[in-house]
Amino acid sequence: MQRIFSGIQPTGVPHLGNYLGAIRNWAALQTSHECLYCVVDLHAITADHDPKTLAGSTRDLAASLIACGIDPAKHILFNQSAVHAHVRLGWIFTCVARMGWLNRMTQFKDKAGKDRENVSTGLFTYPNLMAADILAYHATRVPVGEDQKQHIELANDIAEKFNHDMGTDFFPHIEPMIMGPAARVMSLRDGAKKMSKSDASDQSRINLTDDAETIALKIKRAKTDPEPLPSEAEGLESRPEARNLVGIYAALMDTDHAHVLKQFGGQGFGAFKSQLADLVVEKLAPIASETRRLLADPAHVDSVLRDGARRAAALANPIVDEAERLVGFLKP
Ligand code: AMP
Ligand code: TRP
Repeated sequence: MQRIFSGIQPTGVPHLGNYLGAIRNWAALQTSHECLYCVVDLHAITADHDPKTLAGSTRDLAASLIACGIDPAKHILFNQSAVHAHVRLGWIFTCVARMGWLNRMTQFKDKAGKDRENVSTGLFTYPNLMAADILAYHATRVPVGEDQKQHIELANDIAEKFNHDMGTDFFPHIEPMIMGPAARVMSLRDGAKKMSKSDASDQSRINLTDDAETIALKIKRAKTDPEPLPSEAEGLESRPEARNLVGIYAALMDTDHAHVLKQFGGQGFGAFKSQLADLVVEKLAPIASETRRLLADPAHVDSVLRDGARRAAALANPIVDEAERLVGFLKP
């Protein structure tokens, strides 16, 4: 059985993009793979964070993941800082990766913006730690949204250089799994920007915790164009906002763009938006209520994470011990 690893940052509340691009697929893959899912709190401190809320956000996100169907009894759910193997291998990879490789990372360029001199060095070396997250388990499949593809390619470059430099074939090749018609959900306010936890406007995203009324209003106000919906998928090509809403509908119905347009092609956005809102509410409401139920007992969520970390460490420690031996460290 192939081993899967994926991660999500505990910065802000998870949104529909996280759900459709990643979390929903994580849940589905549990029947066919051995899965490790990680709340990446080490990654969360690469940008400014509030030390008073990080622990709570980590627990909240773990509860959301369980509510979305992640099964911590059959698979492993944990928070990254609880397993030291990530940092040990992350450091080794920081010494393997080249400045030029990291300089090409578009997520860094987006996040740093014009303020490059003032962002943390951790934001720059972030992809090294991400490579370590995956490779500390010898995981070979990584279900992510499209935005993470470049980081997976970099992880493979790191693994190959490590293998070459240490004269080994120790680290395996990794394949990203980018799944479904909503692998890149866009902002509801701007079809050129991805839906993101860090967007200043809450109207730009649907949070997994939003109530029915909020969801309906956000979809009603979502940016569109004046044309009716096209009848064929090709008609969405230069219409990013329409394409985004149709993609969300398709993903939630487990179908594709063409199928949705068979039903709605030729109609205006009014009727479509109202059905889309009903569908989003129908899918998200049970997740929000299950998350609330789980968080009524925070100690239980913490104990699930503690158990996950113990099992994750048992898998990662021997692999990272061996990586250290291959590097040449004295292990007295
Ligand atoms: P993050 O919130 O950046 O930690 O992302 C967690 C997971 O959600 C990753 O697999 C991302 O690729 C995925 N993701 C984040 N934003 C989006 C989006 N707008 N559309 C699709 N997937 C996304
Ligand atoms: N970089 C990912 C994101 O921002 C989160 C992440 C960290 C991750 N480590 C990972 C994803 C390992 C997959 C595998 O979305």
